[in-house]
Amino acid sequence: MTYNDKVVRQFVVMTVIWGIVGMLVGVIIAAQLWLPVLNFDIPWLTYGRLRPLHTNAVIFAFGGSALIGTSFYVVQRTCHVRLYAGGLASFVFWGWQLVILAAAISLPMGWTQGKEYAELEWPIDILITAVWVAYAVVFFGTVIKRRVSHIYVANWFYAAFIITIALLHIVNNLALPVTATKSYEVYTGAVDAMVQWWYGHNAVGFFLTAGFLAMMYYFVPKQAEGPVYSYRLSIVHFWALIAIYMWAGPHHLHYTALPDWVQSLGMVFSLILLAPSWGGMINGVMTLSGHWHKLRTDPVLKFMIVALSFYGMSTFEGPMMSIKTVNALSHYTDWTIGHVHSGALGWVAMMTIGSLYSLTPRLMGKKVMYSVKAVDTHFWIATIGIVLYIASRWIAGVMQGLMWRAFNDDGTLTYTFIETIAATKPYYIIRLLGGTLFLAGMFIMAWNTFKTLGQAKAPEFKAAEPADWGEHA
Ligand code: HEM
Ligand code: HEM
Repeated sequence: MTYNDKVVRQFVVMTVIWGIVGMLVGVIIAAQLWLPVLNFDIPWLTYGRLRPLHTNAVIFAFGGSALIGTSFYVVQRTCHVRLYAGGLASFVFWGWQLVILAAAISLPMGWTQGKEYAELEWPIDILITAVWVAYAVVFFGTVIKRRVSHIYVANWFYAAFIITIALLHIVNNLALPVTATKSYEVYTGAVDAMVQWWYGHNAVGFFLTAGFLAMMYYFVPKQAEGPVYSYRLSIVHFWALIAIYMWAGPHHLHYTALPDWVQSLGMVFSLILLAPSWGGMINGVMTLSGHWHKLRTDPVLKFMIVALSFYGMSTFEGPMMSIKTVNALSHYTDWTIGHVHSGALGWVAMMTIGSLYSLTPRLMGKKVMYSVKAVDTHFWIATIGIVLYIASRWIAGVMQGLMWRAFNDDGTLTYTFIETIAATKPYYIIRLLGGTLFLAGMFIMAWNTFKTLGQAKAPEFKAAEPADWGEHA
C-alpha cells in the first residue's frame, strides 16, 4: 500500500505560491494606506477592490490549500490507508484552484456580493459547493475505510472544519441571481447582518482555527517526536470549542440595530471561549514537555511554539475586545487589524509554515528541509515582521480610539478625522516594513521548498505516527 502524496505535493506547492501572492497584495494595500496615489487611478488597483483580494487570497487560497493538503496527508497516515477516490481528490485540487482563479479575476473587476469574506458571486459559490462536497467525500471516505478502529483527534478537528464550512457557506450565500455577476441576498436588515457575522465569526472559528488546530495536533507531536500532552484534554477541547464558537458572532455587531440581549449573549460566549482556546493552546505547548531542548536545534519547532503563543495571545485579546465597553474603543480602529493579524500571521501562517516544513521533506523520504539554516533565517525574519506589524497596530488603534472620543469643554470634538489619519501615518510605515519582512520570509520558503522537492526521493521510511503514541498524562 502506498499513500497518495501527489495531491498533497500539489497543494503544498500552491500553498507557498498563494501565500506569496496574497501577502504581496497585503503589502500593496499596506503601502496604499500610507500613499493612496499607489492605486495609479486604475479601478482594479484601488484599495476597495484589492483588500477583498488580499483577504480571499490569504484565507481561502493560502490557508485553504494548506488545510486541504495537510488533511489529505494526515488522514492517510492516521487511518493507515490510502486516500479514498484518487480521481475525486484530483478534482478537489483543480476545482479549488479554479475557484481561486475566478476570485482573482472577479474581485479586481469589482464583482462582489459586498459581504466580508463571502464576496464571491453566485456562480463561484456554486463551484465552491461542488468542490467542498467532493472534499468531504474524499476525507470521510478515507476515515470510513481506515484500518485502525480509533479516529485520531486531528481528524476530528478537520471533520468539524469541513462540515461547518459547508453549513456556513450555504446558509450565508443564499441569494437571488439577477445576472451572471450580480445577485441579491435573501436576508434583509438586521437579520442579514446577524447571518453574515454568524458566518464571519465561525469562519474564524472553523476555517482559521479548527483546521489549524488539527495541524497542531498532528505536526507538533510529530516534530517533537513525542505523544500529545493530554489526549483527554484534546477531546474536552474539541467539544467545548465547537459548542461555544457558534454563539459568539454578535460581538462583531456591538452597538448596532441588533437586539441588545443578542449582543450581550455574544459577549458572554466570547468570554467563555477563552477557556477551551487556552485548553488547546496549553495542550499544544505542553506536548513539548521533555523535548524543550530540541528548540535549540530545530527551527521548525520554533515556528510551532511561536504559533501557539500567538494563538494564546489572540484568543485572550479577542474575548477582551468582545466586552462592550472595550469594543466601544477598539471597533473601527487599527486595533482590530492588529488582533486579526496576530491570529492570521502569528497563529495561522506560522502554524502553516511550521507544518509544511515538517511535511515537505517527508514527502521526499527525508526528515529535514534542503536548508535548515534557511528555515531558521525565515523564522527570525517572520517573527520580527509580525512584531512590527502587530505592535504598530496596537499603538495606532488605541491612539485612534482615544482621539476620536476626545471632547473639548464646550462639547465639540478635539480632533478632526483627518488629524487622526495624519497621526497614524508613521505606524502605517512600520506595518508596511513588518509585512515586507514577512513576505521576504515567504520567498525564502519558496526557494527551500522547490529545492527540497527537487531532490532525489529517498526510499520511504516508515516513521512512527502520533496517532499510535498514546499520551503524556
Ligand atoms: C505580509 C503579510 C500581510 C500584510 C502586509 C497584510 C496587510 C493587510 C492590510 C493592509 C489589511 C487592511 C487593513 C485595513 O483595512 O486597515 C489587511 C486586512 C486583513 N488581512 Fe492581512 N496582511 C498580511 C497577511 C495576512 C494573512 C496571512 C492573513 C490570514 C491568514 C491576513 C488576513 C487579513 C484579514 C482577515 C483582513 C481583514 C481584517 C478586517 O477586516 O478586520 N492577512 N491585511
Ligand atoms: C477566543 C477567541 C476569539 C475571540 C472571542 C475573538 C473576538 C473578536 C472580536 C471582539 C473582534 C472585534 C469585532 C469588532 O469590533 O468588529 C474580532 C475581530 C476579528 N477576529 Fe477575533 N477573536 C478570537 C480569536 C481570533 C483568532 C484566533 C483569529 C484569527 C485566526 C481571529 C480573527 C478575527 C478577524 C479576522 C476579525 C475581524 C473581523 C472583521 O471585522 O472583518 N480572531 N475578534
